[in-house]
Amino acid sequence: MKYNINITKTKESRLNEVDFENIPFGRVFSDHMFVADYEDGEWINPRIVPFEPFTIHPASMVLHYGQSIFEGMKASKNLDGQPMFFRPEMHAKRLNASASRMCMPDLPEELFLEGLHALVGLDQGWIPPQEGSALYIRPFMFATDEFIGVRPSSKYRFIIFTGPVGPYYSRPVRLVAEQTYVRAVAGGTGEAKTSGNYAASLLPAKIAQEKGYDQVMWMDSREFKYVQEVGTMNIFFVINGKVVTPATDGAILKGITRDTVLTLLKEKGFEVIEKPVHIDEILAAHDRGELEEIFGTGTAAVVSHVAELAYGDRVITLPPIEDRKVSPMIKDWIDGMRSGRVEDTHGWVQEV
Ligand code: COI
Repeated sequence: MKYNINITKTKESRLNEVDFENIPFGRVFSDHMFVADYEDGEWINPRIVPFEPFTIHPASMVLHYGQSIFEGMKASKNLDGQPMFFRPEMHAKRLNASASRMCMPDLPEELFLEGLHALVGLDQGWIPPQEGSALYIRPFMFATDEFIGVRPSSKYRFIIFTGPVGPYYSRPVRLVAEQTYVRAVAGGTGEAKTSGNYAASLLPAKIAQEKGYDQVMWMDSREFKYVQEVGTMNIFFVINGKVVTPATDGAILKGITRDTVLTLLKEKGFEVIEKPVHIDEILAAHDRGELEEIFGTGTAAVVSHVAELAYGDRVITLPPIEDRKVSPMIKDWIDGMRSGRVEDTHGWVQEV
């Protein structure tokens, strides 16, 4: 252990209030959180404290200029009851990639990982026992300098909190390709996991939901023809047995579940193609009867099936889930690796 993490435990755990059979996504929070501050060029005072609100100065720069980044990851229990993380160091690295784009300081990977292990070790009773549910982990960093001039903040706070969750989407989703708004442009912040990307997505998502869709599928900003990603997921198409996904180009989040899925599929001998994906190619594959599946991947969403996709006045309906071969299998591999039912040959699953 490189860092000396000060621990203040809660006087009274709230664990006995949780109904693990019935967990809403994102509303239940565990007993503790990990906090560290950045001042004068270094990370100081790493600590675990009871999970509770804290005060924030009205001039805190995050509230005005949006230097705010986050990660989403999960811990689960294997069949022996041992708490496990899934690819934690990838999240530490991606947080720093986001930090770099948003002109925020690097967080040492050891600090991220030591804080994570200490926090989840302490609150491991909050990890839901059943496969498919998990302890969702939210590491995030934001600007705390009290200043209203426009420049990068000189002070930051890093926090990790956790909470038990069930599935993000409880049924196959209906998507609509967005043709008015864009999520990200070349050279923008699309690849960073920064709050503003999500803020910008809310209005188009609300409009889509009012029309009966679950999420928008983001398209490129020039022609609205090339597929980027979906609200909370990367997107995959299965066309005549081949798996196609948009190549990351700076405007698409480099999903860790996306990388997991690509790696596993290649190893199992699937033809996997990362490239710019034109909407006409998807519609034409559908018209030939070759579009077998569309699915999304993400930490919260894991692997989520797409039931329907709309583009302009075209609406395509995908085959029933029981006829799909690729996405149910991948979901089973990932859930199985987390529980220890499926062998993890990559060292992705790591003990807390
Ligand atoms: C995740 O999948 O963890 C995300 O960050 C998406 C989300 C905003 C729930």
